[in-house]
Amino acid sequence: MNSASNALRGPSQPLDITFNHDALSQLIAAFAQFGDAFCISESVTNAPIYVFSHPDCVRHVLVDNHQNYTKGIGIERVGILLGKGIMVSEGELWRRQRRMIQPAFHRDVIARMLGHITAANQQLLDTWIACASDNREICITQDMSDVTLSIVLRSIFGEDSQAMTEANGSNPFALLTEETERNLTFAYKFRALSKVILDCVMRRRADTHERTDLLAMLMAARDRKSGEPMPDKQLLDEVMTLIVAGHETTASALNWMWYLLSQNSEVEQKLVAEISAFAEIPSTIEEVNALKYTRQVVEETLRLYPPGWLLTRRSINADRIGGYDIAANADVFISPYLVHRNPSFWPEPEQFNPDRFSETARAGRNRFCYLPFALGPRACIGESFAMIEMIMHVATLARHIRLRYVPKYPLELECQVNLRSKHGIYMLPELRQ
Ligand code: HEM
Repeated sequence: MNSASNALRGPSQPLDITFNHDALSQLIAAFAQFGDAFCISESVTNAPIYVFSHPDCVRHVLVDNHQNYTKGIGIERVGILLGKGIMVSEGELWRRQRRMIQPAFHRDVIARMLGHITAANQQLLDTWIACASDNREICITQDMSDVTLSIVLRSIFGEDSQAMTEANGSNPFALLTEETERNLTFAYKFRALSKVILDCVMRRRADTHERTDLLAMLMAARDRKSGEPMPDKQLLDEVMTLIVAGHETTASALNWMWYLLSQNSEVEQKLVAEISAFAEIPSTIEEVNALKYTRQVVEETLRLYPPGWLLTRRSINADRIGGYDIAANADVFISPYLVHRNPSFWPEPEQFNPDRFSETARAGRNRFCYLPFALGPRACIGESFAMIEMIMHVATLARHIRLRYVPKYPLELECQVNLRSKHGIYMLPELRQ
């Protein structure tokens, strides 16, 4: 890292961070030229944005001095979609909500969701087996979006998820997989689903049937100080947050994982050997944890393609990061994508190599160079849930099916809030013998 200086250099072309533009390519080019600390001006306001990709700076901004940072550029847009849910809120409101929601992601609660995860994967497996026998290709991007939406809805609403679909004539949340744009039109359509969620909450209040899903946990949560439940508006924002945060991130990671497996047959064989060594697909958290190499495959996928590719922050007071002075109210970016491919910490960073996550390799590495779920107090609340979900998914499907890549469209990144593939990725399923 550079020594102390206030003149942080950077590219002359400003950065358009409206998420309609390929900001990632620009940041990658700037990283190649200026390294792990550079400054770029924002295209509309011309204000400086400081981009740090050294693990010491990651640690400083997200952990050691996290109280000096709020969420930054783009958070207003997320707020239109998610209101004041915990992805967006700050200060005392965020702290209170995080405390109230955290128990819903306790290991014992996740254990209750495993049946939902298995059911959704099993349904997809049946479809893939049928496609394999008919030699029909699948769009893995669409299938991952569908299966992860199904899992998150079942986990939140339990059996009401099916009831809502029946009452509505179709899945009211289907727009999350049917519409790929994440613009204002989408945000308004999505917010209109508040009514569906609120109706479900009202129905539950009117009956005494005991439930164990995430919505039940949120409805039962009480503020530690006041003993009060969440106000309805807040409950709605939190449910919407969990749907969006839990769906698209996992879908995108699994989309990339299947692509990477299709391109790396040695890794795929090792993965299948591990999965097949067990008589059954995993049905407990202990069984999921026994799939060590499978976990490494998921971790390496998240290194190369972190769905949350950009963490935007804004300083409250002036600060000094990596030897550089940063003013109050300055925009600071930490991009997991850049950090995960920093060659000073990741040899041959472009290579897909799950052995990087073996216990020995992990022990020798600075732990602040890996942050697919962010780090510090604002880290992902759903990390354990997501990891278990993704490991169970691949363990269920890859046991029976091999996917062969069908190069239909160019493989391009689309870096909006999540790092998705710009076009659908197609595969031909084959039954394993
Ligand atoms: C591969 C899957 C996932 C990835 C890569 C991921 C990544 C992230 C990242 C990077 C953040 C921090 C954003 C920031 O600081 O700006 C975050 C926050 C969050 N994630 Fe996840 N996430 C995943 C799955 C999930 C799931 C399954 C859920 C819930 C069902 C979830 C719920 C949340 C919530 C509520 C927050 C906000 C936490 C807070 O600010 O207190 N995520 N996630």
